[in-house]
Amino acid sequence: MNIIPSLVNKIKKRFNANLLNLHEPSLDKTDYKIVNKSLLEKEISTYGRYNHLFEKKISKYIGSNNVVSIINGTSALHLMMKMLGIGKNDEVLVQSLTYISSINSIIYNNAIPHFIEIDKNNLNVDVEKLDNYLKRITYQKNNLCYNKKTKKKIRYFLSVCINGLSANLLELQKILKKYNIKLIEDAAEGLGCFYNKKHLGLFGEGGVFSFNGNKIISTGGGGALYLKSKNLFKLSTKYATNCKIKKGFETEYFDTGYNYRMPSINASLGISQLSKLEKFIKNKQKIYKIYNEIFNDYDEFEILKPIKNLRSNYWLTNLRIKKLNKIKRNSLIKNFWDKKIFIRQIWKPIHMMNNFKHFPKMKLEVTEKTYYSTFSLPSSEFLINR
Ligand SMILES: Cc1ncc(COP(=O)(O)O)c(C=O)c1O
Repeated sequence: MNIIPSLVNKIKKRFNANLLNLHEPSLDKTDYKIVNKSLLEKEISTYGRYNHLFEKKISKYIGSNNVVSIINGTSALHLMMKMLGIGKNDEVLVQSLTYISSINSIIYNNAIPHFIEIDKNNLNVDVEKLDNYLKRITYQKNNLCYNKKTKKKIRYFLSVCINGLSANLLELQKILKKYNIKLIEDAAEGLGCFYNKKHLGLFGEGGVFSFNGNKIISTGGGGALYLKSKNLFKLSTKYATNCKIKKGFETEYFDTGYNYRMPSINASLGISQLSKLEKFIKNKQKIYKIYNEIFNDYDEFEILKPIKNLRSNYWLTNLRIKKLNKIKRNSLIKNFWDKKIFIRQIWKPIHMMNNFKHFPKMKLEVTEKTYYSTFSLPSSEFLINR
C-alpha cells in the first residue's frame, strides 16, 4: 500500500497548511520597528551601536563575552581558523555530511579537511569509531598528533551541529584529549542549543554561529565568532576590521585583514530576533512533537531524537527512512513536493563530490547511507500558530 498520500494529508491537516516550505524566517512588527529605526538614524553600514548591543545580548544569551558579530557564518569560520593558526601543515578532522562552508573554511586557510564517520542517530561524529581510527592512523611527537601517512599535523577537530542535533561533546573531548587534538565548533545551526546547560560553540577553542535567512533567528545574512582566548578574541575584532589602526589623523593597516564586520542594520534585526528566540524554540519543539505523533504510526520511518542532556533548538526536524527497500527516496521527495510539502534530503556528503574526493577519510559507510535515508521536514516556527 502506498502510505505517502495518507502521510501528506495528516501533515497538512495537523499544520492546517496547504504549502509547507522547509524553513522561512519569522518577522513581525518588532523587527520592522527596529530596522526602521536604524534606517532613520542612518546606522546601517559599518560596525555601530546596534552591533555593540547585539553582541552584548548574544554574549549574555550564550554565556561568554568573547563574541564578535561577523558578516556571515562562513567568514566567521574562516576567521576562527585563521586566528587559531590553522594553516598548510594541518589536517582538520570534520564530518563529510555537512554544509560546504565547514569544509571551504578549512581550505581557505590552506589546510586539509580529513573526513570522519558519523553516527546515524545524531548525524554527528561516531566517537568510538573515531577513537579506533585515530589509534590506527596517527602518531605523537612533541605532544602533537600527526597523520602517519601524510605526516601532517592533526591539531583540531571541527564539530558541526546538524539541524539542532549534537554529539556528546564531553565524550568527544575526552577522546580528542588522548590524541592532543583540540575542539572547535561549527555551531552555525546551533543557536539555542545547550548541552549539559552549556551553549554549543563554547566547548572548545572557538565556535561559530550563523544568522542567515534560513536560521533559527536571522539578521538577513550574518554570523558570530566566539574565541575562548581573550587575546585571540580581541585580535579577531581587529582582523575582522581590515587590521585597521588609527594613528592621530592617519589610518594604517598592521596586516592583511578582512572586511568581515556585520553591518549595523543587520545587527538591529538581530536584536529583535534574539528577543524571540526562546519562543521560536518552544514552537519548534511543538512541531517536532507533532511530527513524532504523525510518524510514530509508521514502522518505515523514524524521527531523530536529540541526545540526552541536549536542550536542542529543534531548528529542523529530521526524518529517517528505516526501510529503504520499501520506501524509495526519490519517489518520497517527488510525492511530497507534488503536494507542496518541501522536505529536503540531507546534504550530499562532501567526499562524494569530484572536487573533494581526494581528501583523507575514514570509511564513510554510515555517512553515505544517511545521505540516502535522511530528510529534513518543514519546520518554520509559525507553522504552530495557524
Ligand atoms: C553547518 C553550517 N556551517 C556553516 C554555515 C555557513 O553560514 P552562513 O550561511 O551564514 O555563511 C551554515 C549555514 O548556512 C551551516 O548550516
